[in-house]
Amino acid sequence: MDQDQMPMYERLIQHKKTNPISFHVPGHKNGFLYEGMDPAYAQLAQLDLTELTGLDDLHDPQEVIAEAQRLLADFYQTKKSYFLVNGTTVGNLAMILACCQEGDLVLVQRNCHQSILHGLIMAKLDPIFIAPDIRENGATEIKLQMVEKAFQQYPTIRACIFTYPDYYGQTYDFQAIIDVVHQHHSLVLVDEAHGAHFALGHPFPQSALQLGADIVTQSAHKTLPALTMGSYLHINSDRVPLKKVEKYLKTLQSSSPSYLIMASLDLARHYLAHVSTEDLTFSLRQSQEFIEKVKQLPNIQVIRSKDPLKITVRHSSLSGYELQAKFEQAGVYPELADPRQILLIFPLVKSGMVYPYDQAFRQLQSLSWAGGQARNQPMQNIISQESIAITTLALSYKKMEDLDDQWVDMDESVGKVASQMITPYPPGIPLILAGEKITITHVQQLKQLIKIGARFQGGTENLKQGKLAVFSM
Ligand SMILES: Cc1ncc(COP(=O)(O)O)c(C=O)c1O
Repeated sequence: MDQDQMPMYERLIQHKKTNPISFHVPGHKNGFLYEGMDPAYAQLAQLDLTELTGLDDLHDPQEVIAEAQRLLADFYQTKKSYFLVNGTTVGNLAMILACCQEGDLVLVQRNCHQSILHGLIMAKLDPIFIAPDIRENGATEIKLQMVEKAFQQYPTIRACIFTYPDYYGQTYDFQAIIDVVHQHHSLVLVDEAHGAHFALGHPFPQSALQLGADIVTQSAHKTLPALTMGSYLHINSDRVPLKKVEKYLKTLQSSSPSYLIMASLDLARHYLAHVSTEDLTFSLRQSQEFIEKVKQLPNIQVIRSKDPLKITVRHSSLSGYELQAKFEQAGVYPELADPRQILLIFPLVKSGMVYPYDQAFRQLQSLSWAGGQARNQPMQNIISQESIAITTLALSYKKMEDLDDQWVDMDESVGKVASQMITPYPPGIPLILAGEKITITHVQQLKQLIKIGARFQGGTENLKQGKLAVFSM
């Protein structure tokens, strides 16, 4: 197919150029009612259209949307690909609901996004969680032996849900894992939210699509030039029930999908299809020069990722949150901070596009980086891998739905079933998942984590007071 085309984007621009007079939704009437507001906003609203003649319908695509999705499938070399307007969140829900049936056993990578957990709940599945290993640099890695062990224990696993890469752009040897899952006639579902650009090939890691995963979701908006909430869902094998996927996408997505988002998904695919080797060299050289300079700042350590678009930065005496505040003080905004570090995501620029790296560095350099006492000690060893290696739930999601919960003292919680997930940072992998039975090892590890000042996703205050949420039974 001709990857020079941008049918969706072009049709939207064409429509705008005819100076149309709106007697339809949305209520801002092509931005007319934004008079007096910032013109940039009103201009954008001129492209915020709806299912007008010639603009097709996401839920029954026949014209430009169908064409744009075919171009997407052609670029990624898939069986079929879809635009998502509710992020990878909706893609994850739809792929789980479509590929699994109530009561199915599914293998789930423990450090998954909450949308995966929500999908398990909605589909009423029986998950078997496997924990990744944590490498020295904090990267998470699913081990082939763990997957094999899980299949030995639970041979009827219907599907395996992986997160590849992790938020920090780290990957693992996925090919061998996919092959093993397929040997067991199980499906490979992949949340590749952070890897939409992996299709470019070396030096990026291989995409789950190239490695033979059955169904893959990608947040185009995270690394490609797509608007927030713009994502892709790809069907990559005949094992996926296509009609069910479409049924759930229709059920879960808005009946008024954003044309701005859809056009940006078309643009993002076009952009990616036109990144040349020269562009890539240029892009990575620019970010490399920035990295080299940042590394020279006093007390700063830069850690590379398998994904060259990502780095983490640490300071010898500042927490990740303090470092984030410092970067922001310089007008430089990282993607996220955790207790130990910040994450930076670089743009995928093309030859000649001069991203303000120099300005960013000058602004960073203007701050004082003198260090206090080193206090960034690794914490991950506290969590014993055996306690979370392969776990199942003590209660089904269906049962959990009808139960109340309560806070109890940690020591009293042993043997009870947790009603909330507890995720210490680092390493950012849930120590306890809702529905798991709390063990004495969990409590011992939690106490140690609290003692050394670990932070927890949600509920830190209650935990510090020695309380855990459990189901009342
Ligand atoms: C691994 C992972 N999966 C899924 C999502 C959800 O993606 P979206 O924001 O596109 O809905 C995120 C968001 O950060 C994520 O990190």
